[in-house]
Amino acid sequence: MSRPWKVGANTLDHRIVLAPLTRIRANTDLCVTDLHVEYYGQRASKGGLLISEATVMCEQSIASNHIPGIFTEEQAKAWKKVTDAVHAKGGFISCQLWHQGRVAHRSYSNHPLAVAAGATVCESAGDVGLTYSDLAQDNTMQPHVAPHKMTLDDIARLKQQYVRAAKLAIDVAGFDYIELHGAHGYLLDQFHNSGTNNRTDQYGGSIANRIRLTVEVLRLMKETVGEDKLAIRISPHTNTNGFFMASDEDPDALYKALYEAFNEFKLAYLLVTEPRWERSYTGDCATDPMYLAPAINLDKFKGLYKNGPIIGAGGYTPVSAKNNMNNPEGYDAIGFGRFFISNPDIVERVRLDLPLNRYDRSTFYINGAEFDKTDLSRGYTDYPTFEQTLAAVSSYTLEEVRADPAKMKEVVEKSQSLPYPLAEIQQIGVTTNSSQRA
Ligand code: FNR
Repeated sequence: MSRPWKVGANTLDHRIVLAPLTRIRANTDLCVTDLHVEYYGQRASKGGLLISEATVMCEQSIASNHIPGIFTEEQAKAWKKVTDAVHAKGGFISCQLWHQGRVAHRSYSNHPLAVAAGATVCESAGDVGLTYSDLAQDNTMQPHVAPHKMTLDDIARLKQQYVRAAKLAIDVAGFDYIELHGAHGYLLDQFHNSGTNNRTDQYGGSIANRIRLTVEVLRLMKETVGEDKLAIRISPHTNTNGFFMASDEDPDALYKALYEAFNEFKLAYLLVTEPRWERSYTGDCATDPMYLAPAINLDKFKGLYKNGPIIGAGGYTPVSAKNNMNNPEGYDAIGFGRFFISNPDIVERVRLDLPLNRYDRSTFYINGAEFDKTDLSRGYTDYPTFEQTLAAVSSYTLEEVRADPAKMKEVVEKSQSLPYPLAEIQQIGVTTNSSQRA
């Protein structure tokens, strides 16, 4: 994991990446706060890459309360404190630019920032709505609404909004990279998938037409920030997943075309979702079967994108991440999501084969209606490092427990009475992928 690698113009020291993670703790102006500075600062490491939580890139994209934005000067200045904290530790940070498209209820058009801009929230490639209830701005579930089908003028506006957000992210907020959120059934992915895109113009119909917007935005971003600062996330799926019901008539052909289209660029990185968490997951990391599932996209799309590093994320454990790194055909780096939430020092834990803290799923997101009454630091900045847990339950040194399995076992057992108990890596599951089995 400790081999250096190039991400754009920078050389990074290790290959454990913070995957983007929405945590719903921004203020009502969608600005990050001192708590975010602490959270990202805790997870920064020398030569490590963090990817920000999905960050709203325009007024039309608001689909939850308290998610951060990057479309006002004030939001960008707030992010600068976060990027400063990451840089102070010698780390790097990318801003994930998020447009949620139809994954919004139209009531978010009442959000003060959307009202001020005269923006209609809930737009998409086509007028295909979700078929389940949507979370409305008052935090109640409401019947879904058919999205506003974007006109060519809307698309032209969207591109200018990408330019504005990218400039704010790099020039004002001080991010090292921007990452287009092209995954998980959000706006760009709504254009990609035939089940959500029922257009008949140059942005609908054939695969080439459905990926056109993404390619055009990448070209624009290349001009705006340079391709060495440019990244994108995609989520090839098998139609069995729950990426907001974005289905496609031939997902393998669709995502193959996207990988190939990316060869026009020398991206800083491509982030690929392994859809291991698409079918089911349990709240208990020790028994979640998806940590044992194969990395299907690694195999399926092998060798198609040749111009830069590819990061895999989704269902990795320290063991399977190390397996990946020992596989010459594995991903260049691994993004951790849930375990990075609960282990601010995961880089050290993976390096030294230390047990991980279990995660508490109930504090991943904040319920908007409860926001003002909630301790936002809980499950966010209060997860201990391994050394803190060790000191809380024993007087052993790190060297002593690493050298003696009995002492380590004792520490794991004693930690079970703490708010954040340890889980031994072996209990979490050893994941392989099919290329290693062959
Ligand atoms: C996510 N994920 C996610 N993905 C993304 O591209 N942008 C985001 O803002 C979020 N937000 C988010 C929040 C939470 C609480 C979870 C659990 C997940 C997906 C995430 O980046 C990652 O792909 C998954 O968590 C799978 O990786 P792990 O958790 O198995 O390592």
